[in-house]
Amino acid sequence: MHSKFYKILLLVGLGSVVGVILLLQMYRFAVGPQGVEISFPTLSQVSLTSSPENAQCIECHQNESPGILDQYHDGKHSQRGVQCLDCHKPLEGQEKMTTVHYEVQMVAAPTPNNYAQCHDEAVHEFSISAHAAKSWYPVVGAEDFTKEELAKYHLLGEDGKPLNNGKPNVIRDVIGKDASALSCEACHGIGKKNDDGSFGDCRACHLGHDFSIEQARQPETCGQCHLGPDHPQMEIYNESAHGTYYAANKEKFNLGAPTGTLTTKDFPSPTCTTCHMSGIGDIEPTHNVSERLKWNLAPPIATIRADGRQNRQTMESICLNCHAQGTIDEHMTQAEKIIDLTNENVRKGQSIVNELRTIGLLPGSTMSTPIEYLEFELWHHEGRRARFGAIMSGADYVNWHGIYEQEKALVEIKAEAEEMKKD
Ligand code: HEC
Ligand code: HEC
Ligand code: HEC
Ligand code: HEC
Ligand code: HEC
Ligand code: HEC
Ligand code: HEC
Repeated sequence: MHSKFYKILLLVGLGSVVGVILLLQMYRFAVGPQGVEISFPTLSQVSLTSSPENAQCIECHQNESPGILDQYHDGKHSQRGVQCLDCHKPLEGQEKMTTVHYEVQMVAAPTPNNYAQCHDEAVHEFSISAHAAKSWYPVVGAEDFTKEELAKYHLLGEDGKPLNNGKPNVIRDVIGKDASALSCEACHGIGKKNDDGSFGDCRACHLGHDFSIEQARQPETCGQCHLGPDHPQMEIYNESAHGTYYAANKEKFNLGAPTGTLTTKDFPSPTCTTCHMSGIGDIEPTHNVSERLKWNLAPPIATIRADGRQNRQTMESICLNCHAQGTIDEHMTQAEKIIDLTNENVRKGQSIVNELRTIGLLPGSTMSTPIEYLEFELWHHEGRRARFGAIMSGADYVNWHGIYEQEKALVEIKAEAEEMKKD
């Protein structure tokens, strides 16, 4: 009687163990990082499949930093079984960044190299974009770069020397290191150099531990950096018909739609990412924000990029989802007239200031006289604003913050130059 009872108990016990193991294996293959997407797991399920080390991270950080755990559980990573150490575990080459944290080896701030384990395409596209090494260079100069990196990321001039003589941008020196740390380096940190030699910070757009695609697609995410007197893309978007439509109809947008399959049903009006990053219609998504640009609109004189015309075709294929070719042509032709006009105005200002420099009326150091600031803002503020306003439909920026301000500055530059010549 007794032995029969124990046999049944043993069988039931063994059966349950085998059953649990089978379930766990199914979970790993069906729901794990490579599996299909199912959105049910909760903390208990994640803990159940965690290695003891991951379970420890979760248990302790649940109390230490519940905000991070809330974001993590809301996100897709936890739903797909990606755990703390999938990102925080050190890789080869990350020795400098490795710490021992409660007896486990860890990197506190994972880099694109950690993400490349799963997302190598996004990492590659991002790394060759202006958001990576190229955006770090102007705020630190060549000192953070090896020779190979300077060549690889096109940071050498035609003479083979590092751009700008290897120095950071002149305004970085004007404001000093401390101010730069909280301004230049905050925005340009999207491309900062990491201790494992990689460049950039995916979390500049994929904020928090939820890594949400909805959030990455909202204009406000780009607007963290793309705003203000010298690159007011956010303000321009807000006043454009596209931005107005978005603001008034947000609930119609399917911001969480999977990448690469977007239609105009998901995005009835474009956000920044629709035009610059997303896949829509036949166009593939990209993490290289430079890929669809015809012009270099940021420098004093706007120029057309080497592959500019092809890039423009890609951009127009996006517009064609919602507009007729005639509407697009008309828009682009008018906008390019404004780009030409800003170039003309900048050249006028430059020639006056260059003359003063040639005849020795300006000191050797730059940015030390009022006229140099007038000339700087003529392109860096007013010229860019008019260009961006024209191409992205922000009328106020074309005129009142743009061409009008340029015309006014030219009058001031001329008057100032006359005064300096008199003295
Ligand atoms: C027993 C509790 C405990 C465990 C287990 C634990 N942590 Fe922590 N962790 C903390 C505390 C407390 C801090 C804050 C330390 C501080 O303020 O300096 C912290 C800080 C961190 C930081 C920030 C470190 C930095 O230098 O900025 C990271 C990242 C981190 N933990 C990740 C993990 C991961 C991943 C695991 C699992 C491998 C883990 N933690 C396990 C308690 C724990
Ligand atoms: C998809 C990758 C990824 C996963 C998964 C992940 N982390 Fe992180 N975590 C990061 C990155 C990247 C940072 C660094 C952010 C930065 O630049 O400071 C970070 C930072 C942290 C920090 C420091 C945050 C701060 O602001 O001080 C803690 C603590 C942390 N992670 C804990 C965890 C825990 C616990 C888990 C598991 C529940 C986890 N992480 C899972 C990528 C990840
Ligand atoms: C953390 C700051 C930051 C965020 C967030 C950010 N950017 Fe940028 N972006 C920059 C910086 C800095 C540059 C200038 C890089 C350089 O030096 O050429 C830039 C440049 C660009 C360029 C011009 C590229 C070129 O080749 O000239 C485009 C287009 C762009 N960003 C689009 C976006 C979009 C779209 C988003 C949102 C999904 C976004 N950015 C989010 C900082 C940011
Ligand atoms: C609010 C965020 C922000 C701050 C602060 C900021 N930048 Fe930028 N910067 C950008 C963005 C965004 C662009 C891209 C402009 C564009 O293409 O429209 C840019 C472009 C540039 C460019 C032209 C691109 C290139 O690679 O030649 C230089 C140079 C530059 N910034 C230097 C600086 C310096 C130096 C500072 C500090 C004095 C600074 N920036 C502060 C966001 C910022
Ligand atoms: C300039 C902002 C920005 C930066 C920086 C950025 N991303 Fe993204 N990411 C996006 C946007 C926007 C999307 C959605 C694109 C779309 O609409 O198709 C996205 C989508 C993704 C996706 C697809 C998610 C899904 O659910 O299909 C992955 C994976 C990804 N990013 C990884 C990365 C990695 C890795 C990095 C760093 C190397 C990175 N991202 C840096 C903005 C950014
Ligand atoms: C309707 C599509 C569309 C939308 C929406 C849009 N842009 Fe643009 N953007 C363009 C076009 C077109 C250009 C000019 C490209 C070219 O020909 O060089 C441009 C240029 C830019 C540039 C200038 C790059 C340079 O050469 O300096 C930046 C930066 C930029 N956009 C960022 C943004 C940001 C940030 C947002 C959202 C706040 C946004 N864009 C919204 C279409 C768009
Ligand atoms: C997903 C759909 C969609 C895409 C893509 C799109 N637009 Fe639009 N566009 C709209 C909507 C919606 C409006 C506002 C309503 C209207 O004018 O019909 C609009 C309005 C406009 C206007 C009129 C603006 C005004 O102030 O009257 C112009 C010009 C324009 N878009 C140009 C472009 C260009 C250029 C591109 C590509 C770089 C583009 N659009 C991409 C949906 C789109």
